[in-house]
Amino acid sequence: MASSSQTTQELRWGWVAALLLFVVAGLTGSLYRFGLLHGLPADLQLTNVRHAHSHLMYYGWVTPALMTLIAVHLLRGLPEATLRQQWQRRFGLVIGLTLILAVLAYLPFLQYGYGLVIVGTAQLPPAVIASFFNLIGWYAFAFLYWRLLWGQPRQPAWRLWDLALGFLVVASVGGWGLALARPLQIENPAILSGLTHLFLDLFSYGWFVLALLGLMVAQTPQLVEKRLSGWAEGLLIMGLPVIFLLSMPGGLVPPAVRIVAGFGGILVAGGLWLYLWLLWPRLGTAWRIPLLFMGLSGLALLSTSVPGIADWAASMGLRVSYLHWLLLGFISLGLLAAAFDLWGDGRVYGRFLFTIAAILLILSLIPLTRLWPVAWSGRWALTLAAWISLGPTLIALLMIGANLSVKRRT
Ligand code: HEM
Repeated sequence: MASSSQTTQELRWGWVAALLLFVVAGLTGSLYRFGLLHGLPADLQLTNVRHAHSHLMYYGWVTPALMTLIAVHLLRGLPEATLRQQWQRRFGLVIGLTLILAVLAYLPFLQYGYGLVIVGTAQLPPAVIASFFNLIGWYAFAFLYWRLLWGQPRQPAWRLWDLALGFLVVASVGGWGLALARPLQIENPAILSGLTHLFLDLFSYGWFVLALLGLMVAQTPQLVEKRLSGWAEGLLIMGLPVIFLLSMPGGLVPPAVRIVAGFGGILVAGGLWLYLWLLWPRLGTAWRIPLLFMGLSGLALLSTSVPGIADWAASMGLRVSYLHWLLLGFISLGLLAAAFDLWGDGRVYGRFLFTIAAILLILSLIPLTRLWPVAWSGRWALTLAAWISLGPTLIALLMIGANLSVKRRT
């Protein structure tokens, strides 16, 4: 195994920059919450602010953070210093490009959402076009990854990253479709909704979940012997391609297709639980809370897969909670745990506080659902959720400060 300190030092800027975009995306989420209470400044619209928040979290936080952590793992395995430097420069360029393109998509989402702008005689959707450019960074990363590992026998973590990047590429077909829908004059709501969810759901469940599982498996070579990990992987591969259909409005999906999608959801939930069972005893305590949220996300997926329960969950308004169990509780806390495994406490200073802030944020969403008795609800619930939403962002700022001060000292 090659000495890695040089490598890991230098790619940490990717981690810090991704944390910085987490802060911007988190503040945008808080702007939405305070906007519900007091209105928004400068003609901003709530829907656009929400889109800007979610897309920056996807493109600017999780994606470059995953790329950085995967790249560091791969660079650590390279035998020679010159080779490491060469590949580090290449990965660094792609991560930098991904971060810049994420910011370029954030601004039009904030201003226009998915809306159209008149340019000369044409009507163009600037945020969709900017999203489309983000594909360049993702394809470039997938290309570098496959070029580096081409022809080598697959380690278990690499197999998961192969799949994760495969799903990223498939998800991007939805992005292509959305960008081309207008010039091709496709207006069928089922096709447009299908493309949107193909893009967003395969991105989160395919790319995020499989890539993070790869980071976990990279820490636990003992898992290799387990035949069950093959089963867990198989369940995910079979179920993932169809679960985007579960997010589409019911009226747009024929009942037979809905049943297939539900079956896919059950397979994915089973895969997540099997991984939970396998990984829990083998990973360090940093992974406890993200793993619990992985289990909860499996439960949420199961509830949206079974028709009667899915209707109940929708009527209770659980969607935003479910999303944040997965994306904040599992994926974001999991990224911190993976960074801790690689670099130790100095780079995730305040991790414990961040975990508490994330759990509080997730709990603060419950009074906003219809699970909460009407008699106890009121404006206080929105006010509380707004103030609590600032927690993870403030701790992330602290984490960035600690990273910068470590850098100055080293
Ligand atoms: C600081 C942490 C976070 C805050 C304050 C926050 C805040 C919010 C708010 C206020 C909403 C709108 C809720 C509504 O429609 O009622 C939202 C939705 C959403 N958030 Fe977050 N969030 C956070 C973390 C994350 C993370 C880490 C991700 C993804 C990696 C994420 C992805 C999403 C998505 C996909 C939606 C739904 C967007 C839509 O319906 O168009 N959030 N969030």
